[in-house]
Amino acid sequence: MDKILIQGGLALSGEVKISGAKNAALPILAATLLSPEPHRLKNIPKLGDITTLKRLLEKIGAGILEADDFCMIQVKNIENNEAPYSWVKTMRATILVLGPLLARCGEAHVSLPGGCAIGARPIQLHLMGLEKMGAEIKIEHGIIHAKAAKLKGAPIYLETPTVTGTETLVMAASLAEGTTIIENAACEPEITDLANFLNHCGAQIIGAGTDHIVINGVPALLGASYEIMPDRIEAGTFMVAAAITKGDLTLKQCCPGDMVSIIEKLRATGSEIKVEKDTLRVIGKEIHAVDLKTLPYPGLPTDMQAQFMALMSVSDGASVITETIFESRFNHCAELRRMGAQIKVEGNHAMIKGVPALSGAPIMASDLRASASLILAGLVAQGETEIRRIYHLDRGYEAIEQKLTDVGASIQRVKGSA
Ligand code: EPU
Repeated sequence: MDKILIQGGLALSGEVKISGAKNAALPILAATLLSPEPHRLKNIPKLGDITTLKRLLEKIGAGILEADDFCMIQVKNIENNEAPYSWVKTMRATILVLGPLLARCGEAHVSLPGGCAIGARPIQLHLMGLEKMGAEIKIEHGIIHAKAAKLKGAPIYLETPTVTGTETLVMAASLAEGTTIIENAACEPEITDLANFLNHCGAQIIGAGTDHIVINGVPALLGASYEIMPDRIEAGTFMVAAAITKGDLTLKQCCPGDMVSIIEKLRATGSEIKVEKDTLRVIGKEIHAVDLKTLPYPGLPTDMQAQFMALMSVSDGASVITETIFESRFNHCAELRRMGAQIKVEGNHAMIKGVPALSGAPIMASDLRASASLILAGLVAQGETEIRRIYHLDRGYEAIEQKLTDVGASIQRVKGSA
């Protein structure tokens, strides 16, 4: 297993190009299953999770051709409508193939994802929505067996606005007979990106990005050429990197319009932030303590909670972070404490008392965004920080050491250490 070594204390400065969004690329890749025509996709990030999904799509029948800056993908025939446990346990987002497989070939067999480090992560709402569209669903021996000769449009109310649940239902409804209306849909920009892609393929989806999405099913979808949106969580992570190191970073090819909650919260901590069309400049200044609460979009994303926790660890006062989306997304607290952070967790609240400095230590990553928070802490800590289990990081941050090195960080990957 690789590990990362960081010598902290350097202010970062320069430009960072933001990659395509992991959480938009995943559903869009899954959506290619809906049509037999070829798609040309640009700005797909090079990440562990993306490779996992591409390999699964190949097992299902996709032909994938990688070029330097785009990827051609075509699923002429579904050769295999299964996603067994060996895939689903590697990455729970493989559940995204369920809706498209069912809509395209009337049958799908997908292993039921279990919980993960950040919570139980049920998917009953995905299944409820598919049942409303007429699917017959059975779970046997840990496998979801879904069947529907032809899905039928239906009104669906989601008790909780689930992101991948909304995506599953939008994809399935695109090929259903009649109209589907999803109420209390998740509003995340990645859902809008998926809907835009599907509309390029000929789907009729109105209202993505709001909590009321209307999908008029069409008999077939075409191929499309599409560029994936920028990753707002990667951009947010680099913004915090500028803030925590009191540096000056300009983020290129990002989407500030999708990041208002992150921009405003970081401004409240004292950073100066300049916003242009697809560029964000963050100049780190003093770091004030602020309270924050994660919420569904357009609230502050849970995927930024751990990074803000690292920042609050070196703020000038006391702050409370409330996590409302996932029940155990505080795994990074114990590791941050090993670096000298003063954090107390009670239920879904973390109380943080800012300290003047963190100190480098050997620490362990527990999940993707926790890894990012440990990197951020390492960038500001005195001395060396050694982070293990960084495979979590590689699932969601493209070339992160290179991007950080290019803006002045001292960070190095050590291959294959125990
Ligand atoms: N929920 C239910 N029932 C369901 C589905 C969800 O109760 O059937 C609950 C969950 O337990 C949670 C809440 O709804 O409390 C929101 O979960 P959601 O389903 O929206 O999460 P997800 O779709 O599994 C996606 C992202 C996550 C991100 C969350 C929240 C992808 C591939 N994953 O997960 O990203 O944290 O939305 O924004 O899009 C990450 O990138 O690090 C990551 C974990």
